[in-house]
Formats: sequence, structure tokens, C-alpha cells
Amino acid sequence: MKESSASAPILLFDSGVGGLTVLAALRRVLPDAPVIYAADFAGLPYGEKSEAEIAARVAGLLGRMGERYQPRLACIACNTASTIALGMVREVLEIPIVGTVPAIKPAAAMTKTGVIGLLGTAATIRQGYVDRLEAAFAADKTLLRQAAPGLVEAAEAKLAGRAGVGEAVAEAVATLRAQPGGDRIDTVVLACTHFPLLREELAAAFGPGVALVDGAEGIARRIVSLTGGQAFARRAPNFAVTTGPIDTLEQRADALRQVGIEDLRVF
Ligand code: DGL
Repeated sequence: MKESSASAPILLFDSGVGGLTVLAALRRVLPDAPVIYAADFAGLPYGEKSEAEIAARVAGLLGRMGERYQPRLACIACNTASTIALGMVREVLEIPIVGTVPAIKPAAAMTKTGVIGLLGTAATIRQGYVDRLEAAFAADKTLLRQAAPGLVEAAEAKLAGRAGVGEAVAEAVATLRAQPGGDRIDTVVLACTHFPLLREELAAAFGPGVALVDGAEGIARRIVSLTGGQAFARRAPNFAVTTGPIDTLEQRADALRQVGIEDLRVF
């Protein structure tokens, strides 16, 4: 990459604050990378939308953001959007696109009981993409999928400083455990980027015998490998944009500050 392009940003996109879990991992490996964090609060939650709606929305928004911000790479830091719209976004943007896919492969390598739980949005857990990951990496395991929309809301509320996370976590864990074989789960895939924001609460609810796996570190490594050899020089502070009203970001200013973002804007 030319010296003049060293300030070209990496664009991270999610429906809300879930992608901050990916941004935190990215900052650990590429601390100097200029970053724009984009949250589609006007479209949240994706998990309750149809495939057609999500694909059109995500491809449309990323196309416009690509034009406006000229990123060197875009990361769809959202499992729902990635499992549905990754192909379409790759057709719209001519830059490398990194998706976020459920960490079934590492979970399959970790489980001792052979029973893996998967918590995701309703839209994610019904995707053929997940069927294909299961067939490729966990064909000899039992994968129990559970939609947990309450956890998306709880993660958003937690980062906005609101209480009441416990009930949603308890309900998600109990419903997954209640599936046939659920008592033998020893590994749980957090297949939504919002869920690692509730890692402590989920770990406490599952108990010490259950490992929680997410894809954030793997995604960060993928971005490093795709930008290998490129120069990074931040010429302006990192910023976040929202498709909703500015207070969707302002309410979560503390969490954004923790990942180095203080400049908040409306897209
Ligand atoms: N963060 C998104 C994911 O990883 C989903 C949240 C939503 O329902 O919008 O799936």
C-alpha cells in the first residue's frame, strides 16, 4: 500500500454495539490502524428480520459507507449479517471483506462430551451457512442451536448502563440446557458478536464446566493477514457512526471510549 494510503481506515460494521467485541480484539493486534465503527441502530435487531431485508439493508449500507469512507477493508462484525449477506457485500465492494462466522470449528476441537451449544440470533441459527459449518467441522458432534434475542437487548442495555441483564441470561441458558442432551453441553459457541459482552454473566449461569467460544480473535487475525505489509498511520481520531439518532451512540460513550472512540457521528 502506498504511503499516502496509510491513513485509509478499516471499517467495522454491526447492527449495534456487538462489533465492539471484534474492535477490542483488533486493537490488541493492530493498535495503530485507523478505524471507523459503524452501527446500524436504525436496523437493530437484525436477528428478527427476514433474509431479504437483512441482505438488502447490509449490502446497501456498506456500499454507501464504502463510497463515503474509502476503507481499505471492511469487516462485517455481525454473525447475522455475515451468514446472510457476505456474498452480496463482496459483489458490491471491491475491497477485502471479512465476515464473522460462528466458531463451530474451534468448539468442535474443544468439546469432550461431544455436545456443543450454539447461541445466536433467530436469523443466524436457521442459516444454511451454519448447516455447512456443522457438516464440515462437527458432523460427529451434537450441535444444539438456540435463538437468544433477549441477549442482544441485554448487551445493548448493559453498555448503555442499564440494569436487568440477569433475567435474559438465565432464560437463554435455561432454554438451551432444556433441549434434549443439553445437560451434557461443555462448550458453547457465542454466535452473535453481542454475546461476548455478557461473557461474565453467561459464564456464571452455565457454571465452571462450560467453555464459551467466540470468533473475535480469529477475525482480528484474519484482518492482520489480509493487511499484512500495509502501513498504518492514523491522521485523525477514530470515530463511530450510527444510522439512528446520535443518542444511540452517546448512551454508550463509555464503552466506545474504552476502545478508543470519542468522536460520535450520525451517518
Ligand atoms: N450482533 C449481531 C450478530 O452478531 C446481531 C444482533 C442483532 O440481532 O441485530 O448476529
